[in-house]
Order: sequence, then C-alpha cells, then structure tokens
Amino acid sequence: MDRSDRSDELRTSGLCVHFEGVKAVDEIDLRVPRGGITGLIGPNGAGKSTFFNAVSGFVPLTAGSVALGDTDISGWSPARISQHGLVRTFQDTRIFKRLSVLENIELGIMNTGKHGAEAREKAHQVLELVGVTKYTDEIAGNVPLGDERRVGIARAVATDPDFLLLDEPAAGLDEDETSELATTIVAVRDELQCGVLLVEHDMSVIFRICEAIHVMDSGRTIAEGTPEEIRTNPAVIEAYFGRDHK
Ligand SMILES: Nc1ncnc2c1ncn2[C@@H]1O[C@H](COP(=O)(O)OP(=O)(O)O)[C@@H](O)[C@H]1O
Ligand SMILES: [Mg+2]
Repeated sequence: MDRSDRSDELRTSGLCVHFEGVKAVDEIDLRVPRGGITGLIGPNGAGKSTFFNAVSGFVPLTAGSVALGDTDISGWSPARISQHGLVRTFQDTRIFKRLSVLENIELGIMNTGKHGAEAREKAHQVLELVGVTKYTDEIAGNVPLGDERRVGIARAVATDPDFLLLDEPAAGLDEDETSELATTIVAVRDELQCGVLLVEHDMSVIFRICEAIHVMDSGRTIAEGTPEEIRTNPAVIEAYFGRDHK
C-alpha cells in the first residue's frame, strides 16, 4: 500500500475492556515497534484475545486508547483500522473456503487498491513468501489445517500491513509445522518490515522469535522485557509457567 503515513509504533495506553463483572483487559500499556516481533503471553483467560479484539476494533474500549504512531485509532471500525495498516488474524482462520487460495489472496490485495495483473503478480509473491505456492489453485476449503493457517496469514500479509497481529497461529500444528511457521513469521517481518504482535501458547515459538515479551494475567500486565528477563522473572514463573510448564 502506498501509504505515506506509515506508523513507527503501535501503542496502547491504559487500555481497559470490562465485561459485566470481568476486567478482561485492565490498564494495559503496550508498545510494539514497527520491524519488531513482540510476544503477548499469559495463562488461559488472561485477556490476550480480548486485547487483540480491542486493538483491532472488534470490541469497544471501556477506557484508555490505541494509537498507530501519532494517530489515535480508539473507537475506529475494524475496516478503517486495517486500511490504516493494522491487520489481524483470528484463531479460526476466516478465509473464503469456496474460493481458490489465489483468489483469497487477491481479495486481500484488492483492499490495498491493486487490481488485475498487478494484484495477481503480488498474490504470487505473497504465496511464495508464506510458503503455500503448491495450493495456488486449490479450493481453500480443501487445504489441510496447518497450511490453511498459512493461507490466513498470507491473506493478512497481502494487505501489506504495518502491524500484524497473530492470534495463536501454531494452535493445532505439529512440532515441525510449528517450527516452519516460526521461520515464516520471521521471513514476513523481514520482508514487510512490519511490527508483529504474537499471541502463542507454544513457548518454543515465543522464545525463539520474539525480541520483547509482554505477560498478562487476569487482565493485568505482570511482566515485560526481553525473552531472557521473562524466562527468569519470578512473577511469570509463578503465574504462568508454574501452571503450564512446557
Ligand atoms: N464477550 C465476553 N463477555 C464476557 N466475558 C468475556 C467475553 N470475552 C472474554 N471474556 C472473559 O474475559 C476474560 C479474558 O478472556 P480472553 O481474552 O479470551 O483470554 P485469553 O485469550 O488470554 O485466553 C475471560 O475471563 C473470559 O471469560
Ligand atoms: Mg485467546
């Protein structure tokens, strides 16, 4: 996308999402630099998906703000947010199962204003980058689960985002598929120079590819730092690894 206003940072300040009686996200300050991979981890129910939903416009904020660079995007619709350069994937992939893989990617590209031969060429480049060229003409609904995830990522990548939010991209993948996916995420970041915010259960992925890690528990931030700092942080070990050691 030829946006002249590419943002250097995704930033939340005092972000709160409260449901009746549940402070799902409570006062979260988080910064994701463009070009970096940041992990967002925490036990089940910590508020990670709700945080994603709030940042990408799918649930209203109770308080606080979300900004892309100097632009406050709080309260914007999901479509407007993605046009402004922040794109997310879902735990369920949400590709169009009756269309071919190529057509799915072309649809993503059309959101950026490219059409015809230009869109098709870009689609082939994205399929190559994300490693799903062998499914180019396959009906998306026939692609096996592990690779369907990649198609979902390719669809997001096709919009040339400044910030890419990935919600548990390795869920349900085996060890080899997970490792390959981690490599692909790094390749995408290197190619697009986008910022990645990664929610992932598999700690091997988090510690391998993240440059910074933010840890939530019960809606709050309990730690943030480098992988090494997080690995040795007593609050994290207690809250997270104590219950869910890998
Ligand atoms: N739409 C909703 N209405 C009420 N409570 C919700 C809703 N969505 C999530 N929650 C609650 O918010 C908390 C955080 O959930 P979630 O963001 O899904 O956590 P995570 O993704 O870290 O597992 C949980 O207690 C969950 O039950
Ligand atoms: Mg979740």
